[in-house]
Amino acid sequence: MIEYRNLKIAILGAGSVGAQVASLLLEHGEELANRVGAGLEVVGIAVRDLDAPRTAEIPRELLATDARSLILGADIVIEVMGGIEPAREYLELALTSGADVITANKALLATHGPELFAIAEQVGAQLYYEAAVGGAIPIIRPLRDSLAGDRVHRILGIVNGTTNYILDRMDRDGDTLEQALAAATELGYAEADPTADIDGFDAAQKAAILASLAFHTTVAVDGVHREGIRTVTRDQVVAAQRSGFVVKLLAVCERLVDPETGRDGVSARVHPALIPAGHPLAAVHGANNAVFVEAEAAGSLMFYGAGAGGRQTASAVLGDLVSAARRHVVGGPGVAESTHADLPILPISSVSTRYQITLSVLDRPGVLAQIATLFSEHGVSVEAVQQSVVTVGGGEDEESAGATLVIGTHRATEKALAATVADLAGSPVVARVESVLRVEGL
Ligand code: NDP
Ligand code: HSE
Repeated sequence: MIEYRNLKIAILGAGSVGAQVASLLLEHGEELANRVGAGLEVVGIAVRDLDAPRTAEIPRELLATDARSLILGADIVIEVMGGIEPAREYLELALTSGADVITANKALLATHGPELFAIAEQVGAQLYYEAAVGGAIPIIRPLRDSLAGDRVHRILGIVNGTTNYILDRMDRDGDTLEQALAAATELGYAEADPTADIDGFDAAQKAAILASLAFHTTVAVDGVHREGIRTVTRDQVVAAQRSGFVVKLLAVCERLVDPETGRDGVSARVHPALIPAGHPLAAVHGANNAVFVEAEAAGSLMFYGAGAGGRQTASAVLGDLVSAARRHVVGGPGVAESTHADLPILPISSVSTRYQITLSVLDRPGVLAQIATLFSEHGVSVEAVQQSVVTVGGGEDEESAGATLVIGTHRATEKALAATVADLAGSPVVARVESVLRVEGL
């Protein structure tokens, strides 16, 4: 029997995620109440437009445009509006008025997380954000709690569903980036402004959140090296297939030794990369996400599942709701985030990885040797070279014959690689540097 009073829940937003949160909560309210030991009463759902179409049936009388009044009457506030303002202001209001807060808003956390966590700690409230990374996949709690006794070395993951969906369609269906993006938007995966997905901002925000948790260090989104998928072409995807790779947008967060100082630091980066076709990340299709975590004692762990989508993400939000409501019933202050390690954030130049460089070169004797010399001058070791001859102008003329070289390197620093590529671009035997892609997962 439930003896505790009803907990008042305010939901901010009824879009792709919010409408599903509201509908699942109304549908399964009684079951969740039994799990919590208190009734969960939705006091209202804040929206901008009362008449906008919804992806789930929501009683009209619950919709409201005055978010502040809803917040002030709530025990728990669920923010699924997105954006920075007024979401930041609303969460601050909720925390200072004594409510616990649940958010799926990685953009807000990656930019204003530290100040919101500080307010939560000050007032003894808790901020829950399982849905902010990986959609339905439980990854925040495993890093925050389950692995809190271990030392995480590396996180390698696909954390943006939209770009994975797009790259997958380019790879398997021959779509262009634009065609695939239109489909992702239709399915509710993309952010309100899809440049957040395409240009890697969303993945960088998630990388900042994951790195902060994993390395007990505040990692701001500005500290994450970011490259999106806008420049990835269908030709590159096909060329990758031919050489046994798949192109994925990856987030890589590492605890590294800074080559300059010899001290430990944290690096976080987001960029398209080649993954061997047999690697488990290559088999992550559609809007799914997968995150590999490598920890000292636990070894390698993989978290996999739906990385975007309203209903899937609502599952993570409701998990947070059950945790927040249980804490309310039991009482006691929230548990603050741990940032005690405070490691320095290292620039991309400190990272070392493998690369694949595609060059258009003149097809003449001695060219390969000159190119190999350039690599060795910068200490970059070549692992493999594939050559295909292309005849430009179709004539007998030897000068007009060209070749494509695909060069795979051993592990090298970004600094050495950048210097090598600059010299290649200026070399008289190189017509063009066609592409430079990092290779992960080997
Ligand atoms: P949508 O754009 O679909 O929905 C946003 C909702 O918030 C709408 O109902 C909108 O109202 C409401 N809203 C926006 N601004 C205001 C405001 N100022 N006052 C009141 N209501 C407002 O977003 P999503 O549901 O896709 O995303 C919500 C959050 O969840 C974002 O932070 C996103 O990053 C995150 N997220 C999204 C996932 C997804 O797959 N979509 C997955 C994981 C996280 P109205 O309907 O009237 O316009
Ligand atoms: N736009 C985001 C994505 C939603 O595609 O991954 C989930 O965070």
